[in-house]
Amino acid sequence: MKKYNVGIVGGTGMVGQRFATLLENHPWFTVKVIAASPRSAGKTYEEAVGNRWAMTTPMPESMKNLIVMDATADVEKIAGMVDFVFCAVDMKKDEIRALEERYAKAECPVVSNNSAHRGTPDVPMIIPEINADHAKIIPAQRKRLGTKRGFIAVKSNCSLQSYVPALHPLMDLGITKALACTYQAISGAGKTFDTWPEMVDNVIPYIGGEEEKSEKEPMKIWGTIEGDEIVNATTPSITAQCLRVPVSDGHMAAVFASFEKKIELDEIIARWENFKGRPQELNLPTAPKQFLHYFTEDNRPQTKSERNLENGMAVSIGRLRPDTQYDIKFVCLSHNTLRGAAGGAVLVAELLCAEGYID
Ligand SMILES: NC(=O)c1ccc[n+]([C@@H]2O[C@H](COP(=O)([O-])OP(=O)(O)OC[C@H]3O[C@@H](n4cnc5c(N)ncnc54)[C@H](OP(=O)(O)O)[C@@H]3O)[C@@H](O)[C@H]2O)c1
Repeated sequence: MKKYNVGIVGGTGMVGQRFATLLENHPWFTVKVIAASPRSAGKTYEEAVGNRWAMTTPMPESMKNLIVMDATADVEKIAGMVDFVFCAVDMKKDEIRALEERYAKAECPVVSNNSAHRGTPDVPMIIPEINADHAKIIPAQRKRLGTKRGFIAVKSNCSLQSYVPALHPLMDLGITKALACTYQAISGAGKTFDTWPEMVDNVIPYIGGEEEKSEKEPMKIWGTIEGDEIVNATTPSITAQCLRVPVSDGHMAAVFASFEKKIELDEIIARWENFKGRPQELNLPTAPKQFLHYFTEDNRPQTKSERNLENGMAVSIGRLRPDTQYDIKFVCLSHNTLRGAAGGAVLVAELLCAEGYID
């Protein structure tokens, strides 16, 4: 496989740091550029991050002395130095939209963690095991942008990375409605217990914009390409409540669902255990061997013991049982900064490279 030089735009942030650790020994990708705000530009990566390093493993030696570039002022320079960039920045939505388009128009593909372009009809929002085929929209996007190789691909919000994968193998049963209550870790807000002491021994029943994303984004993921755009699915109807809980990493969801067709619980579990997607077929470096794991114990999955399953890239499911108001209920869990953010984006990039969209 070809080797790719990559940049991390927003490399000093929480998700950016995850990218750095995940890419340290990546077999295909080498980090050549780290970019962030003008506050960090010109400093070494180590100086720019300072005491904000939030990973449990140390900062990669190979990146410590990279001089952080200015994510907005140096776009063309960065585009000339790398084959593509990962992007995870904390800026206003319209600024992020414009910034990502600047990279794409400079012929530098962007694999983004930001929400700014998730609603753009010709930008694929990919969970590689579920809708790898949405990459086929990229030529239409290139036509609109007037580019030869530049494009933007995004990953979806971290809140839905457990229940959309769990519902996906059941879609042919005609899911009429689904309800998800999420219990989300503080790293999803770019925070630790040191930087957000209010979260110790506390639950905050509001995460701005999260419920809307949790209900709407699955419709694009399950959508279909029609002409030059992805047309959203209209079913299933999803309702969500998202709570912030005192957990460092790992988003749990309690899910209820009803179907048009009847199915035995054993068959649902078999579908989960046998489910494979394009990353497993292609044997991509970051792909979990098994995407969906079902736990039979009553008290699992637990955030602490299961979040790092298959390097934080698998989804853990448990407590499947009948419900009195919906057909079934179950719980599921995914790691929000691995599968839900940087790891999910690395897997999207591997898919796009393996399928020939990034040369
Ligand atoms: N945390 C998660 O689990 C998660 C999951 C999915 C998606 N996301 C999304 O990923 C993005 C980053 O999240 P995060 O948690 O990593 O945030 P974060 O820790 O606050 O990091 C923000 C990054 O953006 C950079 N930045 C801020 N203002 C900038 C500017 N004007 N120009 C260029 N760079 C600028 C920062 O650089 P400086 O260090 O120089 O300030 C830093 O590198 C957000 O859009 C978030 O919604 C996060």
